[in-house]
Amino acid sequence: MENKMRKILVTSALPYANGSIHIGHLVEYIQTDIWVRFQKMQGNQCYYVCADDAHGTPIMLHAQKKGISPEELISQVHTEHSQDFQDFSVQFDNFYSTHSDENRHFSSHIYKGLQADGHIIQKTIKQAFDPEKQMFLPDRFIRGECPRCGAKDQYGDSCEVCGATYSPTDLKNPVSALSGATPVEKESEHYFVNLANFEEMLKKWTKSGSLQTEVSNKLDEWFTDGLQAWDISRDAPYFGFQIPGTENKYFYVWLDAPIGYMASFKNLCDKQGLDFDEFWAEDSKAELYHFIGKDIIYFHALFWPAMLTGGKFRKPTSIFAHGFLTVDGQKMSKSRGTFITARSYLDHLNPEYLRYYFAAKLTPNVDDIDLNLEDFIQRVNSDLVGKVVNIASRCAGFITKRFDGMLAESLPDSALYDSFIEAGADIAQDYEARNYNKAMRGIMALADKANQYIDENKPWVIAKEQGKNAELQAICTQGLNLFRVLMSYLTPILPPMSQAVETFLNAPMVWQPEALLNHKIEKFKPLMKRVEQPQVDAMLDASKENLAAQETASKKPANDNPPIADLIAYDDFAKVDLRIAKIVNAEHVEGADKLLRLTLDIGEENTRNVFAGIKDAYAPETLIGRFTVMVANLAPRKMRFGISEGMVLAAGPGKKDLWILSPDDGVQLGMKVK
Ligand code: MSP
Ligand code: ZN
Repeated sequence: MENKMRKILVTSALPYANGSIHIGHLVEYIQTDIWVRFQKMQGNQCYYVCADDAHGTPIMLHAQKKGISPEELISQVHTEHSQDFQDFSVQFDNFYSTHSDENRHFSSHIYKGLQADGHIIQKTIKQAFDPEKQMFLPDRFIRGECPRCGAKDQYGDSCEVCGATYSPTDLKNPVSALSGATPVEKESEHYFVNLANFEEMLKKWTKSGSLQTEVSNKLDEWFTDGLQAWDISRDAPYFGFQIPGTENKYFYVWLDAPIGYMASFKNLCDKQGLDFDEFWAEDSKAELYHFIGKDIIYFHALFWPAMLTGGKFRKPTSIFAHGFLTVDGQKMSKSRGTFITARSYLDHLNPEYLRYYFAAKLTPNVDDIDLNLEDFIQRVNSDLVGKVVNIASRCAGFITKRFDGMLAESLPDSALYDSFIEAGADIAQDYEARNYNKAMRGIMALADKANQYIDENKPWVIAKEQGKNAELQAICTQGLNLFRVLMSYLTPILPPMSQAVETFLNAPMVWQPEALLNHKIEKFKPLMKRVEQPQVDAMLDASKENLAAQETASKKPANDNPPIADLIAYDDFAKVDLRIAKIVNAEHVEGADKLLRLTLDIGEENTRNVFAGIKDAYAPETLIGRFTVMVANLAPRKMRFGISEGMVLAAGPGKKDLWILSPDDGVQLGMKVK
């Protein structure tokens, strides 16, 4: 048989060695780790490397402030980051540093290659200089008044008050954030990569690779705007690598950062005796993927392939960009306590909850993903504890107590088992395509089926009946085997739990396993506790800084209508997914005087349960069969009477006058209306 094993090298973006890992970062590391674990489980040869991004002005200054050397700082941070990743089960094959010999070697090799082929140009540029500190100032280290709105104490590149962007020389009354001195303009010679030379190569690469549409669209925009030369040098003092052949010039941190992928892998090769060239030579047949956030596409899709070309290395097979994390619909914020570091999360919550929640949210595109804390609690408890673990806890006790831990010799419903195994093909495809959201839906649908099997066969009833021992053992054997298949599909998401299940079932977790029959298992121990609100609250409290600052006085409206809400950007509006839904059921809700419980069908997936405050206007039975417009992508909300999974739209003063669409040939189930 032909050897189908793929050779794959995977990276995540290198975190700055300047601060702690936070849950925003973790979207990426968890997304990548899941993919790598999945690949390894399929028997592919897959390596996952990363490193701390250790160079640059902020790190140099941070160390100065702490009174330690940059080397000391980055080594402390390296220890902290490594522990965070380990505790979240993010399992790199190598977690290195860009401040390494390997990286110095490859950076200089690539630079010399670019130079030899005529891609490096020198230009004299003017830049802000701190006369007291005797150093050039990055834009972020200059503060002053906004040239547009006059707001005080703004950064040198953009105004946080009016949103203007400008260059630091436009700031009024600029000062150095380091010394308070007024910066002076000073000339200096810089080195640039002439990116325009690579336009043709980049255009070809964009077309040939399997880039996400969002990424290739971005590239097209940049081509239209024209490729600017890229400034890769910084003057001393700078923490980084000196540029070969210069006196006081250093590589800009973004030159050696992506080269850090290569350096980390080289370091791994030397430790494990792997063949570096097999993965990086121009004619390499191995696959190379970079997982990154959408903010750093430019560096990876334009600069990086150009650098690789300069060094005569292969280009990435693809770049996988993801969106940004928001918490409860907003940017992470220190005052709201939603700027949550990996460590403060770990102090209060089980990391597997977050791995599962992110997985349930992640798709292959660059949409932002929201951590809705209410939904988080609900999802984890209902899916993992309520559905998955529940299967095992309903069956295991009987096997231990009544059959001395022995499973039956055959499955009573092998067709059901086979259907679970067959479902593995689609789930594998979804993992491969980074559509974890879809994979999780598939797995939870199977979990529903397994629970249904147990509900129908009622082992707790059979256990009390005479002469039904064999039946009881068979049913529990079936349940535990279904559970094992589910856990094998969840192994990339929940490595520690999967390991606990290996111990419990005395059998390895493999993809699409053979049934365990006539096999002894261990005593069942609880696999996962429910998430409780107080734990989440404690985490938010611990992350909160400067509470009072956020309080804003609420204005009283002039009439009875609430004031028009804050303006939202068109992009936010565009996120609202409106669909035509059919009301397949409508009923009164015990104890609620305005609400009806609606069951809505929007076509493709399961029906949605939505609570709507339209009881005054409609008797439930008159609604059944009618169509309405629903917000299909509203995060589920826990209400007093249950979870609401969307919202229906209707216009009118409320009470009796309220309009819902009538069934009409013009509308079609699931149709997008916006
Ligand atoms: N050091 C650079 C990357 C160099 S790669 C050669 C950097 N570091 S970072 O620490 O700022 O970010 C590391 C990764 O985390 C990036 O891919 C970034 O997009 C991602 N994220 C940082 N904050 C994030 C969110 N709030 N949400 C999702 N991803 C985020 O950039
Ligand atoms: Zn302004």
